[in-house]
Amino acid sequence: MHSARPMTREALQAALERADDHEEWVRVLADYFDAAGLFYGHGTDNAGDEAFWLIRHLQGWREGAFEAKPDASLAGTAAEIAERRATLRKPLAYLLGEAWFAGLPFHVDENVLIPRSPLAEVIEGCFAPWVAIEPGVRILDVGTGSGCLAIAAAVHCDGVIVDATDVSKAALAIARRNVERHGVADRVRLIEADLFPSARERYRVIMSNPPYVPARQLESLPPEYRHEPALALVGGETGVEPAERLLEAAGDWLEPGGILLVEVGAEAEPLIERHPRLPFTWLELERGGEGVFVVTAEQLAEYRERSR
Ligand SMILES: C[S@@+](CC[C@H](N)C(=O)[O-])C[C@H]1O[C@@H](n2cnc3c(N)ncnc32)[C@H](O)[C@@H]1O
Repeated sequence: MHSARPMTREALQAALERADDHEEWVRVLADYFDAAGLFYGHGTDNAGDEAFWLIRHLQGWREGAFEAKPDASLAGTAAEIAERRATLRKPLAYLLGEAWFAGLPFHVDENVLIPRSPLAEVIEGCFAPWVAIEPGVRILDVGTGSGCLAIAAAVHCDGVIVDATDVSKAALAIARRNVERHGVADRVRLIEADLFPSARERYRVIMSNPPYVPARQLESLPPEYRHEPALALVGGETGVEPAERLLEAAGDWLEPGGILLVEVGAEAEPLIERHPRLPFTWLELERGGEGVFVVTAEQLAEYRERSR
């Protein structure tokens, strides 16, 4: 909500220094964010959660720190970051260099999309009930960005082997840091490739959160999105070009009984309109998020056969 002019950084710092507890810190910071008319959607969906995230980050996520009396020496840094969040309209994850996904911290910078995919819920459930996952099962993550989906799969699903592709060298460098941070280098292979790796493997799961914003819509997104790489957002003129390329080719890379799992967000309707005979299963996710579909290897093969 854009309710008033935000106070100055000095006034914000002074208000934090006066506060008796961290609940008040949240209130003061959230009011400041609201007055600046910020957009939320890069890790939180409201000012209070954004304020809480900033405070907990500054506290190093230490047990009990939020309940303790505020450390006034953090007020200056908090006010400075909040001011940059408001004036630059930069998502908080980039200002902190960190985002949380599937219960795990990831290093991020402006070369990678900020992790927020609703696919987290499916990965944490190890793709049940769609496929059985056991050690040695192969998974492909197309367009890995920070590596969040691939690494979350490796951490949450015992013994799986994950290949993860991206066309962006800069994104792959960030993904490498995250692979090392989570100690999964022996099970997550990062590959520079246009969608699919050149070595032909068969996967039980191909998952992707491809770019899916129609090119003409990019300019109308809130300013926060301009800090994310256009390569990670724009899915061609229609928005669904990368998703359609996945639908076209994934069958050649899936093992029998395997699944293609893709997020297309608000582009679900246009995709259905363009492929009315493809039997997408659209997932209902407990933690929210829309536009995530599953299709099986067999459904893809049949669709391809019928479209010939
Ligand atoms: C929406 S971001 C998703 C990043 C990450 N998987 C996530 O969920 O946060 C899409 C990613 O796909 C990558 N990408 C775009 N076109 C690609 C292509 N043709 N082949 C492989 N990766 C591509 C972008 O560089 C970007 O990292």
